[in-house]
Amino acid sequence: MPSFVANVNQQTDVLPKGVKALMDNGLVTIPGRYIKPPSHRAVKHLIVPGVEIPVIDMAALESDREKFVQTLCKASSEWGIFQVINHGIPVATMQGMVHGVLELFDLPIEEKMKYYTEEVFVPVRYCTSMTPSQETHMEWHDHFQHYFSNREKEHPWPEKPACYKRLASSYVSSVRHLSQTLMSALSEGLGLDSNCLAKSFGDSEMILRSNYYLPCPNPDLALGMNGHTDSGGLTILFEDQVGGLQARKGDLWYDLKPIKNAFIVNIADQLEILSNGKYKSIEHRVLVQPDQTRLSIVAFCNPSRDAVIGPLLELIDEQNPLLYKSTLYQEHITNAETPHYHIEDLQASVKLCNHGSVMHGRGPSSRGPGSAKVKHVQECIGGQVHGRGNPAANQQSWIVH
Ligand code: OGA
Ligand code: NI
Repeated sequence: MPSFVANVNQQTDVLPKGVKALMDNGLVTIPGRYIKPPSHRAVKHLIVPGVEIPVIDMAALESDREKFVQTLCKASSEWGIFQVINHGIPVATMQGMVHGVLELFDLPIEEKMKYYTEEVFVPVRYCTSMTPSQETHMEWHDHFQHYFSNREKEHPWPEKPACYKRLASSYVSSVRHLSQTLMSALSEGLGLDSNCLAKSFGDSEMILRSNYYLPCPNPDLALGMNGHTDSGGLTILFEDQVGGLQARKGDLWYDLKPIKNAFIVNIADQLEILSNGKYKSIEHRVLVQPDQTRLSIVAFCNPSRDAVIGPLLELIDEQNPLLYKSTLYQEHITNAETPHYHIEDLQASVKLCNHGSVMHGRGPSSRGPGSAKVKHVQECIGGQVHGRGNPAANQQSWIVH
């Protein structure tokens, strides 16, 4: 095969312009940078195929709100991930967005490279994997990302493809509305006022990311996206029917079966923290396929970067002690460096106690209570028991038990 392949494999110091750019140049084997070491690859016998995660029917919101809230609360506590049907967003809006995004990825590489950056908080970003310059083993996907800060009324949408601005802005406003509805119901699920979580988020910010997973010539050696939890509030994901998204419970990875035109919604770290661990920020990852392209469009509904996020004090009492410290959201993501990262980072940065198992029993022994990260947390807090205090007023006030 063409000398190009040999070149790509040898020049590991040259950052790729994306998986699509590699494939368009006739790549037949996966470049070394995208190969995961054996310990990071998916292990077949730990995968549970075709799982149906809870399905939330939003039509029930009108007919029996209380029952709807209960179902949502149960799904968020037991799984932290669920599918939403009858959500009211027209199929045309969703399909329109897919169309626009596919055209965006289809632009010539020179056009896409105008947006190439590893910065997260820029209005428009095109990138491959997460932060290629810092990664030894990259993720097999390209993405476009939009960051909408609350102060940014006029988003600088790419002018090409011509249809994109109209289709994407309509999609964003629909998804924003859906997130607000779900956040109200999630607040009620905690026994609190419906605006309680939204208030804690302050002027919320949204990141919209379209992930493009090309067929991979060596799918067993790569991952579309590493296992991680989302660092923000609530994630609303729309995907095609190809599949590959997996959620982790204990040592097992559950292969999620997408329902056509439904959204997959997952709880992210800040909602786990605000709910003092009642809602679970579930770890997830993406496998790649040998013969199919997969597209996911992900809306991260996040707090303001100025918001201090800690457990809601109304939820704390003798039976429900404080499990997390309060952190400025900006600080949380700075520690994590990217808007999504590995479960150990959340644990090391905010979680205060492990109840004998790490993060809801998800972790393998390397992440268990004796692991280096947990020891680091214990050393940092010195094993002391502090008074309860007001976590919002005193960010160093921790309870250890
Ligand atoms: C993410 C993510 C999953 C997917 O972008 O954080 O988890 O299916 N994506 O693309
Ligand atoms: Ni994610």
